[in-house]
Amino acid sequence: MTVNIAVIGCGALANGAHLPTIAASANLNLQVCCDRDPVLAKNSAEKWGANRFCTDWQDVIDSDDVDMIVLCTHTNLRAAVICPALKKGIPVYTEKPMANSREEMIQIFKANQETGVSVCVGHNRRSSPAFQEFKRLLGEARKTRTDRISVVDRDSEGRELVPEEFQTQVLLRMNDDARSWKPWIFDDEQGIIYAEMVHLIDIALLLNTSHPVEVYAVGSSRGNFTQIITFADGSLATLQHTMVGNFDYPKELYEVTYGNVSIAMDQFVEVRQRGLQREAFKTTFELDTGAELTELKGIDGFHDAVEKFYKMKETNEATDYPMVSVQKGHVAHLEIFAKHIQGECENPSPVEDAIVVTRIALKMLQSIRIGMPVKIGPEDYHMVKAKKA
Ligand SMILES: NC(=O)c1ccc[n+]([C@@H]2O[C@H](COP(=O)([O-])OP(=O)(O)OC[C@H]3O[C@@H](n4cnc5c(N)ncnc54)[C@H](O)[C@@H]3O)[C@@H](O)[C@H]2O)c1
Repeated sequence: MTVNIAVIGCGALANGAHLPTIAASANLNLQVCCDRDPVLAKNSAEKWGANRFCTDWQDVIDSDDVDMIVLCTHTNLRAAVICPALKKGIPVYTEKPMANSREEMIQIFKANQETGVSVCVGHNRRSSPAFQEFKRLLGEARKTRTDRISVVDRDSEGRELVPEEFQTQVLLRMNDDARSWKPWIFDDEQGIIYAEMVHLIDIALLLNTSHPVEVYAVGSSRGNFTQIITFADGSLATLQHTMVGNFDYPKELYEVTYGNVSIAMDQFVEVRQRGLQREAFKTTFELDTGAELTELKGIDGFHDAVEKFYKMKETNEATDYPMVSVQKGHVAHLEIFAKHIQGECENPSPVEDAIVVTRIALKMLQSIRIGMPVKIGPEDYHMVKAKKA
């Protein structure tokens, strides 16, 4: 079945990710491009082949030819669109962050519970092929620890495992370049710590089996900070952000260690591990764009493609330079959600998951402002669902 889609908010992310995904898919049809800026709405519709464009999102809700909304505005527009859409029976893929406040999250949660119509939040990192492999390896590490070897192993000297050896240690690094952001991120008092780090909070929660009990953030909420999430079993996730890095260097590095296994996911192009004897040391993933620039794979391929990109610019071999980008899961996340609304699979990022992430992000903001750790309780990580009739 073809899924007819309306994209509301045709700015940078929509034009860079979701509109190309829809245009390239045989099963997705771009019905409407909506933006309050009429030029953007019209240009996006023409560029990506939409059937029509409009400037008022209410027109989308009122129409009868839309099967799914992709909401790509900032958080200036979330519950106002999502709740009436769900009441009309239209599923919504909304960009992150899912809302600006706990109140708005509850409105969306209630509309989702009452209608049973799905919402997917754009925590797309979890759907990237590289993260899927990273998570699979952690699952293998959790199954048994009897097969672990390493060059140095003094277990034969006899020792009980100490409780800390059952914890999960996570380190997520975001090498960000302030120049890659539009100015609104710095006007917004919530800054990058809220708008961007929801991705990494989502990852940290997915890698842990225990629930979070405390968060602590230090630095500036606009960028350059470190966040720590403590879990009930003593596990720690450290999320480190720099805004004074360079865009051409790999942005995201995820590391998890558990049960004498070390696993790394480098820039969505390479996953490495040591400790799982039956698994490969390294698995590589294709670049999203710019793959034609290099014959190398994985992280070496990423660096080589960036080098070649600059060489092409210097030598003026072409006027249209292929950008180097990686598969961060935007395509897979949207495609899986489209399959989900047709009953083919689970929702890749349901409201119940996203609410926990977004509430923790709000508590991080509170922590950085007061300069102290903030408690996380069941009211943050647990939602009371209505009983099924
Ligand atoms: N998932 C990711 O990896 C990722 C990456 C970048 C941005 N984002 C998210 O995507 C969202 C948009 O970011 P962006 O960089 O594209 O911003 P942008 O400013 O380029 O685009 C936002 C668009 O929404 C339009 N808009 C605002 N209010 C509207 C309204 N009431 N009705 C119709 N259109 C309206 C604006 O005119 C603008 O064109 C943000 O929430 C951001 O956090 C996600």
